[in-house]
Amino acid sequence: MAQTKRIGILTAGGDSPGLNAAIRGVGKTALGFYGMEIIGFRDGFRGIVEDRRLKLDRATLAGILTVGGTILGTSRDKPQRMTIDGRVHDMTSVIVKNYGRYGLDALVCLGGGGTQKSALRLKEAGINVITLPKTIDNDVAMTDLTIGFATALDIATETIDRLHSTAHSHHRIIVTEIMGHRAGWLALGAGIAGGADVILIPEIPYDVHKIADAIRRRSRVGTNFSIVAVAEGAMAKDDARAFQAAEGRKERARNQREKHEAKLELAALEAKHSGNTLRLAKQLEELTHLESRVTILGYVQRGGIPSPADRLLATRLGSACGDLINENVFGVMVASRGERTEPVPLEKVAGKRKIVPPDHPWVQAARRVGTCLGD
Ligand code: F6P
Repeated sequence: MAQTKRIGILTAGGDSPGLNAAIRGVGKTALGFYGMEIIGFRDGFRGIVEDRRLKLDRATLAGILTVGGTILGTSRDKPQRMTIDGRVHDMTSVIVKNYGRYGLDALVCLGGGGTQKSALRLKEAGINVITLPKTIDNDVAMTDLTIGFATALDIATETIDRLHSTAHSHHRIIVTEIMGHRAGWLALGAGIAGGADVILIPEIPYDVHKIADAIRRRSRVGTNFSIVAVAEGAMAKDDARAFQAAEGRKERARNQREKHEAKLELAALEAKHSGNTLRLAKQLEELTHLESRVTILGYVQRGGIPSPADRLLATRLGSACGDLINENVFGVMVASRGERTEPVPLEKVAGKRKIVPPDHPWVQAARRVGTCLGD
């Protein structure tokens, strides 16, 4: 008789709505449909290092479909760089050892770009790893969608809707900051859906004068308010050039010292960039003479109950993950491709990022309806 499969599951990186729906999707398929055993590890990769286990049974998996956050907890710990007692260690071999000790046949990792990289490392170390893509940023390579994006899109769009009426009443510019450090899917999607007048994303560096011109044009025809949706990583052209140069130096570094210097330079640029949204609002006020206000959405976008679209995606991906484990397909991310799901080798996902192409249909649609993209 075939031995019962035992699988582990963890959530890593920033949380996103729909994680519990995905845990339930994997869990119910593995447990109920295939008769496997399933163990949860708390707080990301740290859970498997520090033996923070949670046995997942029917009772634990019940009632979590609509619950926000993750019942397993999460952390940004990486297997190869984990702080233990104040010192950084490579814990990969400990994870491999514990994976064997707990008698696991597979480890399911739910996460964004960083988690896909960590998972590839564990695959190379000999673990049967399988991942699901989640992040509100929607920037994981090789998948149409990530778990959490749809809910965050709803939240950010509703906020823009609400800001419209107050901006209109006070004849103000309201600059609203939406999450997305390196990719602008969320700001672009919510900006279009909410009818923002200006949308700024990291992929399209902006010129503040062009934005002010667009706002002034609106005032000239009697519309003296504007909504600016800005991704947290959107940058003015000069800043973007400085970032690109530093990134290039990091990639071309010939030794550790050069790499370290480039990293310091990038950190200094990041620090300078924080507060950019407030500075942008001030610049726009000075250039247009319209009163400006700022609304930073922040973690509101990651909290609360997942939307139906995310529950559906999480359940599709989670159940497909259970099928793949049953078929012994490992070393892959379960991607969403149109109506279907597809296993994609982790090598094709790790270290890559899906950013908004400048000619993407969303960008073209925004331009057609007269939205200023700052360029
Ligand atoms: O990756 C998702 C994300 O929400 C980004 O949009 C944001 O920049 C980042 O996480 C914030 O992460 P943290 O939880 O570490 O503050």
